[in-house]
Amino acid sequence: MKLKLVGPDHTGIECDALIFLEFEGAPRPELAASLAAYHESGEITGKYLEMTLLHSLPGFKARRILLAGAGKQDKFEVSSLWKLAAVAARLLKSKGVKSAAIALGTGFDSPDHVSAAVKAVIEACWEPDVLKTNADKDGSRSIDELAISVPAITKALEAAVKAGEIMGEASNLSRDISVEPPNKLTPMALAAHAQAMAKANGLTCEVLDQDRMRQLGMGALLGVAQGSAEPPAMVIIEYKPAKPASNARLALIGKGVTFDTGGISIKPSEGMEKMKYDMCGAAAVIGAMQAIARLKPSIAVTGIVPTVENMPGGKAQRPGDIVTSLSGKTIEILNTDAEGRLILADAITYAKQLGCTHLVDAATLTGAIVVALGNNQSGVFTNNDELLGQWMLAAKSSGEKMWHMPADDEYRELLKTVYADIGNVGGRAGGASSAAVFLKEFVGDTPWIHVDIAGTAWLDDAKPYMAKGPTGIPIGTFVRLATGWR
Ligand code: BES
Ligand code: ZN
Ligand code: ZN
Repeated sequence: MKLKLVGPDHTGIECDALIFLEFEGAPRPELAASLAAYHESGEITGKYLEMTLLHSLPGFKARRILLAGAGKQDKFEVSSLWKLAAVAARLLKSKGVKSAAIALGTGFDSPDHVSAAVKAVIEACWEPDVLKTNADKDGSRSIDELAISVPAITKALEAAVKAGEIMGEASNLSRDISVEPPNKLTPMALAAHAQAMAKANGLTCEVLDQDRMRQLGMGALLGVAQGSAEPPAMVIIEYKPAKPASNARLALIGKGVTFDTGGISIKPSEGMEKMKYDMCGAAAVIGAMQAIARLKPSIAVTGIVPTVENMPGGKAQRPGDIVTSLSGKTIEILNTDAEGRLILADAITYAKQLGCTHLVDAATLTGAIVVALGNNQSGVFTNNDELLGQWMLAAKSSGEKMWHMPADDEYRELLKTVYADIGNVGGRAGGASSAAVFLKEFVGDTPWIHVDIAGTAWLDDAKPYMAKGPTGIPIGTFVRLATGWR
Protein backbone atom coordinates (compact mmCIF):
# COMPACT_ATOMS: atom_id res chain seq x y z
CA MET A 1 0.00 0.00 0.00
CA LYS A 2 1.27 3.46 -0.89
CA LEU A 3 1.23 5.62 2.24
CA LYS A 4 1.68 9.33 2.69
CA LEU A 5 1.31 11.90 5.42
CA VAL A 6 -0.42 15.10 4.32
CA GLY A 7 -1.32 18.41 5.97
CA PRO A 8 -4.72 19.66 7.16
CA ASP A 9 -6.13 20.97 3.86
CA HIS A 10 -9.01 18.46 3.66
CA THR A 11 -10.74 20.00 0.68
CA GLY A 12 -7.63 19.66 -1.46
CA ILE A 13 -7.06 15.92 -0.91
CA GLU A 14 -7.66 14.13 -4.17
CA CYS A 15 -8.79 10.52 -3.63
CA ASP A 16 -11.70 8.10 -4.10
CA ALA A 17 -12.83 8.50 -0.49
CA LEU A 18 -11.92 10.72 2.44
CA ILE A 19 -12.73 9.44 5.94
CA PHE A 20 -13.76 11.89 8.67
CA LEU A 21 -14.26 10.95 12.32
CA GLU A 22 -17.73 12.05 13.40
CA PHE A 23 -18.11 12.27 17.19
CA GLU A 24 -21.48 12.06 18.94
CA GLY A 25 -23.04 15.49 19.42
CA ALA A 26 -20.23 17.24 17.54
CA PRO A 27 -21.09 17.59 13.83
CA ARG A 28 -18.06 18.66 11.81
CA PRO A 29 -18.28 22.42 11.23
CA GLU A 30 -16.90 22.30 7.67
CA LEU A 31 -19.69 19.88 6.70
CA ALA A 32 -22.47 21.32 8.86
CA ALA A 33 -24.14 23.25 6.04
CA SER A 34 -24.07 20.40 3.48
CA LEU A 35 -25.22 17.79 5.98
CA ALA A 36 -27.81 19.69 8.02
CA ALA A 37 -30.65 17.48 6.73
CA TYR A 38 -28.78 14.29 7.69
CA HIS A 39 -28.23 15.55 11.21
CA GLU A 40 -31.80 16.81 11.62
CA SER A 41 -33.29 13.51 10.46
CA GLY A 42 -31.06 11.62 12.88
CA GLU A 43 -29.44 9.73 10.02
CA ILE A 44 -25.99 10.82 11.14
CA THR A 45 -25.54 10.68 14.91
CA GLY A 46 -21.84 9.96 15.34
CA LYS A 47 -22.64 6.69 17.14
CA TYR A 48 -19.55 4.46 17.26
CA LEU A 49 -19.03 2.55 13.97
CA GLU A 50 -21.97 4.25 12.21
CA MET A 51 -20.88 4.63 8.57
CA THR A 52 -22.33 7.17 6.13
CA LEU A 53 -20.93 7.27 2.61
CA LEU A 54 -21.66 10.43 0.63
CA HIS A 55 -20.86 11.28 -2.97
CA SER A 56 -19.43 14.49 -4.43
CA LEU A 57 -19.75 16.94 -1.56
CA PRO A 58 -19.33 20.55 -2.75
CA GLY A 59 -15.87 22.01 -2.20
CA PHE A 60 -14.05 18.66 -1.81
CA LYS A 61 -11.68 17.16 -4.35
CA ALA A 62 -12.30 13.75 -2.78
CA ARG A 63 -14.89 11.84 -4.81
CA ARG A 64 -16.60 10.47 -1.70
CA ILE A 65 -16.74 11.40 1.97
CA LEU A 66 -17.13 8.66 4.58
CA LEU A 67 -18.38 9.91 7.91
CA ALA A 68 -17.18 7.34 10.40
CA GLY A 69 -19.08 7.42 13.72
CA ALA A 70 -16.50 7.74 16.48
CA GLY A 71 -18.86 7.70 19.49
CA LYS A 72 -18.24 9.74 22.62
CA GLN A 73 -15.11 11.83 22.32
CA ASP A 74 -13.88 11.15 25.89
CA LYS A 75 -14.22 7.36 25.37
CA PHE A 76 -12.27 7.32 22.12
CA GLU A 77 -8.98 5.45 22.58
CA VAL A 78 -6.24 4.42 20.17
CA SER A 79 -7.83 0.97 19.95
CA SER A 80 -11.17 2.61 19.05
CA LEU A 81 -9.45 4.34 16.14
CA TRP A 82 -7.93 1.04 15.02
CA LYS A 83 -11.35 -0.62 14.83
CA LEU A 84 -13.04 2.41 13.28
CA ALA A 85 -10.42 2.72 10.54
CA ALA A 86 -10.63 -1.02 9.87
CA VAL A 87 -14.44 -0.96 9.50
CA ALA A 88 -14.18 2.08 7.25
CA ALA A 89 -11.49 0.49 5.10
CA ARG A 90 -13.41 -2.78 4.67
CA LEU A 91 -16.53 -0.87 3.68
CA LEU A 92 -14.63 1.29 1.19
CA LYS A 93 -12.76 -1.58 -0.40
CA SER A 94 -16.02 -3.49 -0.85
CA LYS A 95 -17.23 -0.49 -2.87
CA GLY A 96 -14.16 -0.62 -5.10
CA VAL A 97 -12.34 2.35 -3.55
CA LYS A 98 -8.64 2.27 -4.49
CA SER A 99 -7.32 5.47 -2.95
CA ALA A 100 -8.43 6.62 0.49
CA ALA A 101 -7.52 9.31 2.98
CA ILE A 102 -8.24 9.66 6.68
CA ALA A 103 -8.41 12.98 8.50
CA LEU A 104 -7.02 12.90 12.04
CA GLY A 105 -7.73 16.16 13.84
CA THR A 106 -6.11 17.75 16.89
CA GLY A 107 -6.15 15.40 19.87
CA PHE A 108 -6.23 12.35 17.60
CA ASP A 109 -2.96 13.02 15.83
CA SER A 110 -0.43 11.37 18.19
CA PRO A 111 2.10 8.90 16.75
CA ASP A 112 0.05 6.06 18.30
CA HIS A 113 -3.12 7.28 16.56
CA VAL A 114 -1.34 7.56 13.21
CA SER A 115 0.24 4.10 13.53
CA ALA A 116 -3.08 2.56 14.54
CA ALA A 117 -4.90 4.01 11.53
CA VAL A 118 -2.25 2.83 9.07
CA LYS A 119 -2.05 -0.62 10.66
CA ALA A 120 -5.86 -0.93 10.64
CA VAL A 121 -6.22 -0.16 6.94
CA ILE A 122 -3.43 -2.57 5.96
CA GLU A 123 -4.93 -5.35 8.11
CA ALA A 124 -8.43 -4.61 6.85
CA CYS A 125 -7.35 -5.25 3.27
CA TRP A 126 -6.24 -8.80 4.04
CA GLU A 127 -8.43 -11.64 2.71
CA PRO A 128 -8.14 -15.40 3.27
CA ASP A 129 -8.86 -16.39 -0.34
CA VAL A 130 -5.41 -16.65 -1.95
CA LEU A 131 -6.17 -20.18 -3.13
CA LYS A 132 -9.42 -19.25 -4.86
CA THR A 133 -8.85 -19.36 -8.61
CA ASN A 134 -11.83 -17.35 -9.88
CA ALA A 135 -11.26 -13.74 -10.81
CA ASP A 136 -14.02 -12.24 -8.65
CA LYS A 137 -12.57 -13.40 -5.37
CA ASP A 138 -13.13 -10.95 -2.52
CA GLY A 139 -9.43 -10.26 -2.06
CA SER A 140 -9.02 -8.76 -5.51
CA ARG A 141 -10.64 -5.60 -4.15
CA SER A 142 -8.08 -3.70 -2.12
CA ILE A 143 -7.13 -0.15 -1.21
CA ASP A 144 -3.83 0.70 -2.91
CA GLU A 145 -3.18 4.19 -1.57
CA LEU A 146 -3.77 5.79 1.81
CA ALA A 147 -3.14 9.40 2.84
CA ILE A 148 -3.19 10.37 6.51
CA SER A 149 -4.10 13.99 7.04
CA VAL A 150 -2.80 15.59 10.25
CA PRO A 151 -2.71 19.18 11.59
CA ALA A 152 1.10 19.28 11.27
CA ILE A 153 3.55 16.98 9.52
CA THR A 154 6.42 16.01 11.84
CA LYS A 155 9.34 13.54 11.85
CA ALA A 156 7.63 11.63 14.69
CA LEU A 157 4.47 11.20 12.63
CA GLU A 158 6.44 10.13 9.55
CA ALA A 159 8.03 7.45 11.75
CA ALA A 160 4.58 6.50 13.05
CA VAL A 161 3.34 5.90 9.50
CA LYS A 162 6.32 3.60 8.94
CA ALA A 163 5.73 1.79 12.25
CA GLY A 164 2.06 1.26 11.40
CA GLU A 165 3.06 -0.13 8.03
CA ILE A 166 5.61 -2.48 9.62
CA MET A 167 3.02 -3.73 12.13
CA GLY A 168 0.27 -4.17 9.55
CA GLU A 169 2.54 -6.05 7.17
CA ALA A 170 3.86 -8.29 9.96
CA SER A 171 0.35 -9.13 11.05
CA ASN A 172 -0.69 -9.94 7.47
CA LEU A 173 2.43 -12.10 7.00
CA SER A 174 1.45 -14.09 10.06
CA ARG A 175 -2.13 -14.43 8.74
CA ASP A 176 -0.86 -15.51 5.29
CA ILE A 177 1.07 -18.31 6.96
CA SER A 178 -1.78 -19.35 9.28
CA VAL A 179 -4.35 -19.57 6.52
CA GLU A 180 -2.32 -22.04 4.46
CA PRO A 181 -3.99 -25.47 4.42
CA PRO A 182 -2.32 -28.29 6.34
CA ASN A 183 -1.40 -30.30 3.21
CA LYS A 184 0.75 -27.34 2.11
CA LEU A 185 1.86 -25.96 5.45
CA THR A 186 3.82 -28.92 6.82
CA PRO A 187 6.31 -28.40 9.67
CA MET A 188 9.12 -28.06 7.09
CA ALA A 189 7.08 -25.52 5.10
CA LEU A 190 6.50 -23.53 8.28
CA ALA A 191 10.24 -23.60 8.95
CA ALA A 192 10.85 -22.42 5.37
CA HIS A 193 8.55 -19.43 5.98
CA ALA A 194 10.63 -18.54 9.03
CA GLN A 195 13.86 -18.85 7.05
CA ALA A 196 12.55 -16.73 4.18
CA MET A 197 11.36 -14.03 6.60
CA ALA A 198 14.71 -14.08 8.43
CA LYS A 199 16.70 -13.83 5.19
CA ALA A 200 14.60 -10.95 3.88
CA ASN A 201 15.03 -9.02 7.14
CA GLY A 202 18.66 -9.68 8.04
CA LEU A 203 18.02 -12.06 10.95
CA THR A 204 19.83 -15.32 11.62
CA CYS A 205 17.72 -18.44 11.51
CA GLU A 206 18.64 -21.99 12.44
CA VAL A 207 16.44 -25.03 11.85
CA LEU A 208 17.06 -28.05 14.10
CA ASP A 209 16.01 -31.19 12.25
CA GLN A 210 14.85 -34.51 13.67
CA ASP A 211 18.39 -35.97 13.96
CA ARG A 212 19.67 -32.90 15.79
CA MET A 213 16.69 -32.93 18.14
CA ARG A 214 17.36 -36.62 18.86
CA GLN A 215 20.98 -35.82 19.73
CA LEU A 216 19.84 -33.03 22.01
CA GLY A 217 17.23 -35.24 23.70
CA MET A 218 13.98 -33.48 22.82
CA GLY A 219 11.91 -36.55 23.63
CA ALA A 220 8.69 -34.68 24.41
CA LEU A 221 8.55 -33.01 21.00
CA LEU A 222 9.74 -36.09 19.12
CA GLY A 223 7.07 -38.26 20.75
CA VAL A 224 4.36 -36.05 19.26
CA ALA A 225 6.03 -35.99 15.84
CA GLN A 226 6.57 -39.74 15.54
CA GLY A 227 3.06 -40.50 14.27
CA SER A 228 3.42 -38.24 11.25
CA ALA A 229 5.09 -38.85 7.92
CA GLU A 230 6.13 -35.20 8.01
CA PRO A 231 9.42 -34.54 9.82
CA PRO A 232 9.33 -32.04 12.72
CA ALA A 233 11.57 -29.01 13.24
CA MET A 234 12.62 -26.51 15.86
CA VAL A 235 13.30 -23.06 14.41
CA ILE A 236 15.46 -20.47 16.18
CA ILE A 237 15.36 -16.89 14.87
CA GLU A 238 17.73 -14.33 16.40
CA TYR A 239 17.47 -10.55 16.62
CA LYS A 240 20.43 -8.76 18.23
CA PRO A 241 20.26 -4.98 18.79
CA ALA A 242 23.22 -2.82 17.79
CA LYS A 243 23.28 -1.23 21.25
CA PRO A 244 21.53 -3.47 23.79
CA ALA A 245 20.06 -1.50 26.70
CA SER A 246 20.54 -4.42 29.10
CA ASN A 247 21.55 -8.07 29.34
CA ALA A 248 17.93 -9.17 29.03
CA ARG A 249 17.16 -11.60 26.25
CA LEU A 250 13.51 -12.16 25.43
CA ALA A 251 12.26 -15.45 23.98
CA LEU A 252 9.05 -15.49 21.93
CA ILE A 253 7.89 -19.10 21.62
CA GLY A 254 4.96 -20.17 19.42
CA LYS A 255 3.11 -23.48 19.23
CA GLY A 256 3.51 -24.76 15.67
CA VAL A 257 1.28 -27.83 15.32
CA THR A 258 0.52 -27.68 11.59
CA PHE A 259 -2.41 -30.05 12.08
CA ASP A 260 -3.84 -31.50 15.28
CA THR A 261 -5.91 -34.64 14.75
CA GLY A 262 -5.48 -35.43 18.44
CA GLY A 263 -3.30 -38.42 17.55
CA ILE A 264 -4.44 -41.79 18.98
CA SER A 265 -6.73 -39.85 21.37
CA ILE A 266 -8.36 -38.72 18.14
CA LYS A 267 -10.66 -35.70 17.93
CA PRO A 268 -14.25 -35.93 16.65
CA SER A 269 -14.36 -35.38 12.87
CA GLU A 270 -16.85 -32.52 13.07
CA GLY A 271 -14.97 -29.25 12.87
CA MET A 272 -11.59 -30.97 12.77
CA GLU A 273 -10.59 -28.93 9.71
CA LYS A 274 -10.15 -25.93 12.01
CA MET A 275 -7.19 -27.65 13.66
CA LYS A 276 -4.99 -26.33 10.86
CA TYR A 277 -5.04 -23.21 13.03
CA ASP A 278 -2.97 -24.97 15.70
CA MET A 279 0.15 -23.19 14.45
CA CYS A 280 -1.15 -19.64 14.91
CA GLY A 281 1.17 -19.05 17.88
CA ALA A 282 4.13 -19.95 15.65
CA ALA A 283 2.93 -17.67 12.86
CA ALA A 284 2.57 -14.79 15.34
CA VAL A 285 6.20 -15.33 16.40
CA ILE A 286 7.43 -15.29 12.78
CA GLY A 287 5.44 -12.12 12.03
CA ALA A 288 6.60 -10.47 15.26
CA MET A 289 10.24 -11.23 14.45
CA GLN A 290 9.83 -9.48 11.09
CA ALA A 291 8.41 -6.37 12.78
CA ILE A 292 11.15 -6.49 15.43
CA ALA A 293 13.86 -6.74 12.75
CA ARG A 294 12.46 -3.60 11.12
CA LEU A 295 11.65 -1.58 14.26
CA LYS A 296 14.97 -2.42 15.92
CA PRO A 297 14.19 -2.35 19.67
CA SER A 298 17.13 -2.26 22.10
CA ILE A 299 16.46 -5.72 23.58
CA ALA A 300 17.73 -9.02 22.15
CA VAL A 301 14.86 -11.24 21.00
CA THR A 302 14.92 -14.93 20.12
CA GLY A 303 11.96 -16.38 18.23
CA ILE A 304 11.45 -20.11 18.79
CA VAL A 305 9.08 -22.24 16.76
CA PRO A 306 8.69 -25.92 17.67
CA THR A 307 6.71 -27.46 14.82
CA VAL A 308 5.13 -30.90 14.33
CA GLU A 309 2.07 -32.58 12.90
CA ASN A 310 -0.03 -34.58 15.40
CA MET A 311 -1.28 -37.73 13.64
CA PRO A 312 -2.51 -41.20 14.57
CA GLY A 313 -0.91 -44.24 12.92
CA GLY A 314 1.19 -47.35 13.45
CA LYS A 315 4.15 -45.31 14.65
CA ALA A 316 2.15 -42.83 16.71
CA GLN A 317 2.67 -42.24 20.39
CA ARG A 318 0.21 -44.08 22.68
CA PRO A 319 -1.58 -43.08 25.86
CA GLY A 320 0.57 -44.75 28.50
CA ASP A 321 3.87 -43.96 26.80
CA ILE A 322 6.48 -42.25 28.96
CA VAL A 323 8.87 -39.85 27.26
CA THR A 324 11.99 -38.10 28.55
CA SER A 325 11.94 -34.38 27.82
CA LEU A 326 14.97 -32.18 27.07
CA SER A 327 14.88 -31.04 30.69
CA GLY A 328 15.43 -34.65 31.82
CA LYS A 329 11.97 -34.82 33.40
CA THR A 330 9.84 -37.81 32.42
CA ILE A 331 6.28 -37.29 31.16
CA GLU A 332 3.50 -39.86 31.09
CA ILE A 333 1.34 -39.36 28.01
CA LEU A 334 -2.23 -39.72 29.24
CA ASN A 335 -3.86 -38.09 26.25
CA THR A 336 -2.08 -37.67 22.91
CA ASP A 337 -4.31 -34.66 22.13
CA ALA A 338 -2.54 -32.63 24.82
CA GLU A 339 0.42 -32.32 22.43
CA GLY A 340 1.00 -28.57 22.43
CA ARG A 341 2.34 -28.53 25.99
CA LEU A 342 4.74 -31.37 25.07
CA ILE A 343 6.41 -29.54 22.20
CA LEU A 344 6.41 -26.30 24.21
CA ALA A 345 8.09 -28.04 27.16
CA ASP A 346 11.15 -28.80 25.03
CA ALA A 347 11.08 -25.36 23.38
CA ILE A 348 10.99 -23.68 26.81
CA THR A 349 13.91 -25.78 28.08
CA TYR A 350 15.85 -25.00 24.91
CA ALA A 351 15.18 -21.26 25.28
CA LYS A 352 16.64 -21.41 28.79
CA GLN A 353 19.67 -23.37 27.52
CA LEU A 354 20.23 -20.63 24.94
CA GLY A 355 20.38 -18.08 27.76
CA CYS A 356 17.03 -16.36 27.35
CA THR A 357 16.18 -14.43 30.53
CA HIS A 358 12.46 -13.81 29.89
CA LEU A 359 10.07 -16.24 28.20
CA VAL A 360 6.75 -15.59 26.48
CA ASP A 361 4.84 -18.36 24.75
CA ALA A 362 1.68 -18.17 22.66
CA ALA A 363 -0.34 -21.29 21.94
CA THR A 364 -3.75 -22.47 20.81
CA LEU A 365 -3.44 -24.70 23.83
CA THR A 366 -6.82 -25.63 25.31
CA GLY A 367 -10.52 -25.86 24.54
CA ALA A 368 -10.97 -24.97 28.22
CA ILE A 369 -9.81 -21.37 27.66
CA VAL A 370 -12.51 -20.98 25.00
CA VAL A 371 -15.12 -22.17 27.53
CA ALA A 372 -13.74 -19.78 30.16
CA LEU A 373 -13.18 -16.61 28.12
CA GLY A 374 -14.92 -17.02 24.77
CA ASN A 375 -13.48 -15.44 21.64
CA ASN A 376 -12.65 -11.89 22.73
CA GLN A 377 -9.98 -12.30 25.36
CA SER A 378 -6.85 -14.42 25.43
CA GLY A 379 -5.93 -16.08 28.72
CA VAL A 380 -2.65 -14.97 30.30
CA PHE A 381 -0.71 -17.04 32.83
CA THR A 382 2.50 -16.07 34.57
CA ASN A 383 4.97 -16.77 37.36
CA ASN A 384 6.10 -13.14 37.54
CA ASP A 385 3.93 -10.12 38.32
CA GLU A 386 6.41 -7.57 37.01
CA LEU A 387 6.60 -9.15 33.57
CA LEU A 388 2.81 -9.53 33.67
CA GLY A 389 2.53 -5.77 34.22
CA GLN A 390 4.68 -5.07 31.15
CA TRP A 391 2.74 -7.60 29.11
CA MET A 392 -0.67 -6.19 30.05
CA LEU A 393 0.47 -2.66 29.20
CA ALA A 394 1.71 -3.85 25.82
CA ALA A 395 -1.59 -5.67 25.26
CA LYS A 396 -3.63 -2.60 26.13
CA SER A 397 -1.74 -0.33 23.78
CA SER A 398 -2.03 -2.81 20.93
CA GLY A 399 -5.76 -3.31 21.48
CA GLU A 400 -5.43 -7.07 22.07
CA LYS A 401 -7.62 -8.07 25.01
CA MET A 402 -6.06 -10.33 27.63
CA TRP A 403 -7.34 -11.71 30.90
CA HIS A 404 -5.09 -12.82 33.75
CA MET A 405 -5.78 -16.46 34.71
CA PRO A 406 -4.35 -18.47 37.63
CA ALA A 407 -1.32 -20.77 37.36
CA ASP A 408 -0.85 -21.41 41.09
CA ASP A 409 1.07 -24.41 42.38
CA GLU A 410 -2.17 -26.01 43.63
CA TYR A 411 -2.96 -27.00 40.04
CA ARG A 412 0.22 -29.09 39.99
CA GLU A 413 -1.65 -31.73 42.05
CA LEU A 414 -3.82 -32.45 39.02
CA LEU A 415 -0.78 -33.53 37.00
CA LYS A 416 0.55 -36.10 39.47
CA THR A 417 1.16 -39.63 38.23
CA VAL A 418 2.92 -42.56 39.92
CA TYR A 419 4.77 -43.72 36.78
CA ALA A 420 6.58 -40.54 35.74
CA ASP A 421 7.55 -37.07 36.99
CA ILE A 422 4.42 -35.51 35.52
CA GLY A 423 1.34 -36.47 33.50
CA ASN A 424 0.39 -34.46 30.41
CA VAL A 425 -3.26 -33.85 31.35
CA GLY A 426 -5.06 -32.79 34.49
CA GLY A 427 -8.72 -33.47 33.74
CA ARG A 428 -11.56 -31.18 32.65
CA ALA A 429 -11.80 -28.90 35.67
CA GLY A 430 -9.40 -25.96 35.38
CA GLY A 431 -8.06 -27.34 32.10
CA ALA A 432 -6.45 -24.11 30.91
CA SER A 433 -4.69 -23.61 34.25
CA SER A 434 -3.43 -27.19 34.55
CA ALA A 435 -2.03 -26.85 31.01
CA ALA A 436 -0.26 -23.64 32.06
CA VAL A 437 1.11 -25.27 35.20
CA PHE A 438 2.43 -28.14 33.07
CA LEU A 439 4.46 -25.54 31.13
CA LYS A 440 5.51 -23.84 34.38
CA GLU A 441 7.14 -27.12 35.43
CA PHE A 442 9.70 -26.59 32.64
CA VAL A 443 10.00 -22.83 33.06
CA GLY A 444 11.22 -22.92 36.66
CA ASP A 445 11.98 -19.47 38.06
CA THR A 446 12.66 -17.64 34.78
CA PRO A 447 10.09 -14.83 34.36
CA TRP A 448 7.46 -16.23 32.00
CA ILE A 449 4.16 -15.42 30.34
CA HIS A 450 1.92 -17.99 28.67
CA VAL A 451 -0.89 -16.78 26.41
CA ASP A 452 -3.61 -19.25 25.51
CA ILE A 453 -4.98 -17.99 22.18
CA ALA A 454 -7.25 -20.97 21.39
CA GLY A 455 -10.29 -18.66 21.42
CA THR A 456 -8.77 -15.58 19.81
CA ALA A 457 -6.38 -16.70 17.06
CA TRP A 458 -9.16 -17.37 14.57
CA LEU A 459 -12.39 -15.59 13.62
CA ASP A 460 -15.04 -18.17 12.73
CA ASP A 461 -17.18 -15.50 11.04
CA ALA A 462 -16.10 -12.30 9.33
CA LYS A 463 -16.56 -9.09 11.33
CA PRO A 464 -17.05 -5.60 9.88
CA TYR A 465 -13.43 -4.86 10.87
CA MET A 466 -11.80 -8.16 9.92
CA ALA A 467 -12.02 -11.03 7.45
CA LYS A 468 -12.84 -14.55 8.56
CA GLY A 469 -9.80 -16.61 9.55
CA PRO A 470 -6.57 -15.88 11.42
CA THR A 471 -6.44 -12.70 13.51
CA GLY A 472 -2.66 -12.47 14.04
CA ILE A 473 -3.17 -12.25 17.83
CA PRO A 474 -0.96 -11.75 19.90
CA ILE A 475 1.53 -10.25 17.42
CA GLY A 476 0.77 -6.66 18.48
CA THR A 477 1.54 -7.41 22.12
CA PHE A 478 4.69 -9.37 21.21
CA VAL A 479 6.09 -6.41 19.28
CA ARG A 480 5.01 -3.78 21.83
CA LEU A 481 6.61 -5.78 24.62
CA ALA A 482 9.93 -5.70 22.74
CA THR A 483 9.79 -2.06 21.58
CA GLY A 484 8.58 -0.78 24.96
CA TRP A 485 10.93 -2.97 27.04
CA ARG A 486 12.05 -1.52 30.35
N1 BES B 1 -5.15 -27.62 19.82
C1 BES B 1 -5.95 -28.09 20.89
C2 BES B 1 -6.66 -26.95 21.62
C3 BES B 1 -8.08 -26.72 21.19
C4 BES B 1 -9.05 -27.68 21.43
C5 BES B 1 -8.45 -25.54 20.62
C6 BES B 1 -10.36 -27.44 21.08
C7 BES B 1 -9.76 -25.28 20.26
C8 BES B 1 -10.72 -26.23 20.50
C9 BES B 1 -5.07 -28.81 21.92
O1 BES B 1 -3.97 -29.46 21.41
C10 BES B 1 -5.95 -29.84 22.56
O2 BES B 1 -6.39 -30.71 21.88
N2 BES B 1 -6.18 -29.70 23.87
C11 BES B 1 -7.03 -30.60 24.57
C12 BES B 1 -6.37 -30.91 25.89
C13 BES B 1 -7.04 -31.99 26.66
C14 BES B 1 -6.82 -33.32 25.99
C15 BES B 1 -6.50 -32.02 28.06
C16 BES B 1 -8.37 -29.91 24.79
O3 BES B 1 -8.39 -28.74 25.13
O4 BES B 1 -9.40 -30.55 24.56
ZN1 ZN C 1 -4.46 -31.45 20.76
ZN1 ZN D 1 -3.20 -28.71 19.62
